[in-house]
Amino acid sequence: MLVLGIETSCDETAAAVVEDGRRVRSDVVASQILAHAPYGGVVPEVASRQHVATIVPVIRRALTDAAIGFGDLDAVAVTCGPGLVGALLVGVETAKALAFALGKPLVGVNHLAGHLAAASLEDPTLPTPPPFPHLALLVSGGHTAIIRVDEPGKTRLLGATRDDAAGEAFDKVAKLLGLGYPGGVAIDKLAATGNPRAVALPRALAGRDDLDFSFSGLKTAVATWLAKDRAAGSARLPEGAALADLCASFQTAVVDVLVRKSRRALAREGLGALVVCGGVAANRGLRAALAEAARADGFALFIPPPKRCTDKASMIAAAGSELFVRGKYAGLDLAVDPGLEL
Ligand code: KG4
Ligand code: ZN
Repeated sequence: MLVLGIETSCDETAAAVVEDGRRVRSDVVASQILAHAPYGGVVPEVASRQHVATIVPVIRRALTDAAIGFGDLDAVAVTCGPGLVGALLVGVETAKALAFALGKPLVGVNHLAGHLAAASLEDPTLPTPPPFPHLALLVSGGHTAIIRVDEPGKTRLLGATRDDAAGEAFDKVAKLLGLGYPGGVAIDKLAATGNPRAVALPRALAGRDDLDFSFSGLKTAVATWLAKDRAAGSARLPEGAALADLCASFQTAVVDVLVRKSRRALAREGLGALVVCGGVAANRGLRAALAEAARADGFALFIPPPKRCTDKASMIAAAGSELFVRGKYAGLDLAVDPGLEL
């Protein structure tokens, strides 16, 4: 079974071929980071235009890399939400045209379900797929949520962020520190050499019994710390060891809360396996802290390799394969839904 996945929900134009729901035959991404960088964030209209320009070559490349022709495909899966409406439309309309021309089934995939499926893709670090039921910690630029996954497509939201997503917090703090966009990777790198206890930062909702998150206060605390630093006579943004210390302190504040709530949810739900997905799952501090918690508490940890944590079409093809085998096809009237929920 060969499924083509297409992903254009935000600022990556991506196409992939996945075999039998698990084996990645190709995974092509045309990143738009350079096009959006001058604006310090994703500009929706720019994203749509870039998708239009690159979607066809990206799909052709995915087929070439997989060494197959269009006729070998069994289905076409595409992200239909959540995301930017104009960006989603490019992928969905392209997928419809392709499915219609090839006479193959079309499958509409929820981007978040795609992230959840990333840990099911074959990889040397993930010899077996995660068992069901399991808990999922989804930490991306747009979402932060703790989800109970009973089976593919059967999920229950246990907690979510009340304001900024974890990735959004990384990006906003990186912007405050002059580290450019997107800033998660830059903070991750700097944090590796810093002292996580150098700057005292808040852990919002940490002591509470619920499984929700809040990161906007943390971003404000970093801004306040920078303002005080300036008031104390510092003319410039922190550099060198001071910058590394601030990054390490911020990252640890985010990681602490994510780990604490995951452990609480696993215990409360009586689950023995945790899947972590979304762009922030690539963070080395989070991966190390969760590995330690898994050893201490005895749960099984499934985190895709860093390259499969951020938006890729392989995750859409994987989630699409699950729907395809269940016969859950979409019609040619498949609509995009920018606010689609799991
Ligand atoms: O899942 P994703 O690629 O896109 C969304 O669906 O949002 O996640 C992108 C987010 C960005 O906020 C980016 O800064 C963050 O993931 N990110 C990281 C790292 N790599 C990507 N955050 C922290 N550490 C990283 N290594
Ligand atoms: Zn994503």
